[in-house]
Amino acid sequence: MLSNFFLSFALLTATSVQAIWPIPSTISTGNSTLWIGEHLPVTYNGAPIPWVRDYIPFGGPKISAKEIVKGGVSRALKHILDDNFVPWKLYPRLQLEKTEPSLHGHKQYISRLEIVQTVADTPDTLRPLAGDVDESYNLTVNVHGYAKITAVSSTGVLRALASFSQLFFQHSQGPIYSKLAPVTISDCPEYDHRGILMDVSRSYLPVDAIYRTIDAMEWNKMNRLHIHATDSQSWPLEIPALPELHEKGAYARGMTYTPMNVAAIQTYAIQRGVEVIFEIDTPGHFGVAALSHPDLITGWGASPWTTYCAEPPCGQLQLNNPDVDPFLDTLMDDLLPRVAPYSAYFHTGGDEVNFNEYSLDPTVGTNDSAVVVPLLQKFIDKHHDRVRRAGLVPMVWEEIPASYNVTIGDDVVVQSWLGDAAIKSLTEQGHKVITSNYNYWYLDCGRGQWLNFAEGESFEENYPFNDWCGPTKNWRLIYSYNPRAGLTEAEAKLVVGGEVGAWAEAIDEVNLDGILWPRTSAAGEVLWSGRLDAAGQNRTQLDAAPRLAEFRERMLARGVSAEPIQMVFCTQGMDPTTCLFQ
Ligand SMILES: *[C@@H]1O[C@H](CO)[C@@H](O)[C@H](O)[C@H]1NC(C)=O
Ligand SMILES: *[C@@H]1O[C@H](CO)[C@@H](O)[C@H](O)[C@H]1NC(C)=O
Ligand SMILES: *[C@@H]1O[C@H](CO)[C@@H](O)[C@H](O)[C@H]1NC(C)=O
Ligand SMILES: *[C@@H]1O[C@H](CO)[C@@H](O)[C@H](O)[C@H]1NC(C)=O
Ligand SMILES: *[C@@H]1O[C@H](CO)[C@@H](O)[C@H](O)[C@H]1NC(C)=O
Repeated sequence: MLSNFFLSFALLTATSVQAIWPIPSTISTGNSTLWIGEHLPVTYNGAPIPWVRDYIPFGGPKISAKEIVKGGVSRALKHILDDNFVPWKLYPRLQLEKTEPSLHGHKQYISRLEIVQTVADTPDTLRPLAGDVDESYNLTVNVHGYAKITAVSSTGVLRALASFSQLFFQHSQGPIYSKLAPVTISDCPEYDHRGILMDVSRSYLPVDAIYRTIDAMEWNKMNRLHIHATDSQSWPLEIPALPELHEKGAYARGMTYTPMNVAAIQTYAIQRGVEVIFEIDTPGHFGVAALSHPDLITGWGASPWTTYCAEPPCGQLQLNNPDVDPFLDTLMDDLLPRVAPYSAYFHTGGDEVNFNEYSLDPTVGTNDSAVVVPLLQKFIDKHHDRVRRAGLVPMVWEEIPASYNVTIGDDVVVQSWLGDAAIKSLTEQGHKVITSNYNYWYLDCGRGQWLNFAEGESFEENYPFNDWCGPTKNWRLIYSYNPRAGLTEAEAKLVVGGEVGAWAEAIDEVNLDGILWPRTSAAGEVLWSGRLDAAGQNRTQLDAAPRLAEFRERMLARGVSAEPIQMVFCTQGMDPTTCLFQ
């Protein structure tokens, strides 16, 4: 028993230098050295594609597969050659030089990279529903330096390039090398929807911070960026047909996203295999629109807010006001045609609708669910039809079907945050689900309160000021989550993926990277590779920790301020038992 125990750790140690995050379905590596330099011929379906540093692919929503691939190759080679790192944190203390390949004698360089896409992209490749794109790929690198990528879609090529770029390291005295040839990888994702929820209403996030997040998503093979674009706190999204929304509702002039910003973010994302899904939360979380449209909102400024909403300020769309429909028609007629060329989904919100606010609503006047629910049903039916008419599939938060008993269409994707039991019950009812289980995947949790407590009773009651969803979701907890836990096979199929949540009450561009990375990578591996390995066993931290520590260094070298997961004492030697709990 004991010797088995040690044998399995020895095997883990031996495989941990394989270095790919998220772990591919199958991978085998060798121990031959290859170097890589500037002048690497690359072909795509037989034709040369020159790579260019900082290449900006040409084309909007109809960008060609070739341009997508050319952009991907250019980014991957730039990361390999310019943004690499000397891995002294991974090798035993003061042993780096001994592990580096000799600079003397013949150097075998990567001599060519051949990329073959086996099936032409379709219009859905860049604005897919879950399951529309085959992201699988094969990657081989032989000892003579011939590298080959085969993929079904341009998205699959990007995923292959993300793996390829992780095979190389910076030599402390010389060029870039890999010690892993020959390499054979065959890979495909476990889940179709692998995302991040970014909240740009509680805190305005500059466009560059969104770009940087999309960059890191591509490295992590993640493919959905859910932008929670508006909420009760601020309205940063410019709607040209209703300019008063941002003119009165943005935090400050300039703290907004113009239609050009929106198109640029979407374009940047599809070039990296990421689909942006915008959310305008309705009918709750809509308070700030009271600054421009006071007659459409109920509960703005209601006090004490704890009676009327989950956090200040309160405010919901009135539920029986005939002026709300034309307002939403105008809003959606402006926004959805700009979203639809780049995305198959639009998120309609629907979380935390507070019925007490309808007691204050002159068009409703009660919190009685016998009155409110039928009105809510009407609201959702009409609103989802707006989304469908624009050629998009609606998404909603789970409360709409699960807490308020509102009936939704079979097409709708439900975002669940309330945990395993909620997912079980939603999938039992046949809903397609993505999970953001707050017990595991809310990245804002466990950092303490952002509310202030006056001295006295509330200070004493709330001391030491924990937040509602602590403890902190560290990467180990995030990694332990199985989105399909406890489901039947049929139910499990309906879980199309998940999103980590980064609610921004206490997140802005200063701490964004550290909040997201590398913890989101842990969710990224669950979503790409699955919580279970090929043998049906839970993946272990002992395999993941060295690879994640390494991947963190790579993200850092590429300009994302990912946090450390362990001190160097634990990572040097890539032996996970150095810091094993016992
Ligand atoms: C490299 O791998 C080969 C084949 O597995 C093995 O025989 C050889 O000892 C290895 N060399 C080193 C330096 O590890
Ligand atoms: C990858 O290789 C496997 C095994 O040879 C093959 O079945 C599969 O179709 C290949 N995938 C791609 C994307 O070429
Ligand atoms: C509805 O309003 C009444 C009267 O204001 C209040 O007593 C009751 O607690 C409210 N119901 C809910 C579910 O909040
Ligand atoms: C929804 O249905 C459940 C089960 O019948 C019930 O307990 C709950 O009160 C209902 N909620 C509303 C808002 O009607
Ligand atoms: C995987 O872990 C979960 C809890 O984290 C546990 O319930 C389950 O039994 C484990 N599965 C296996 C196959 O060990």
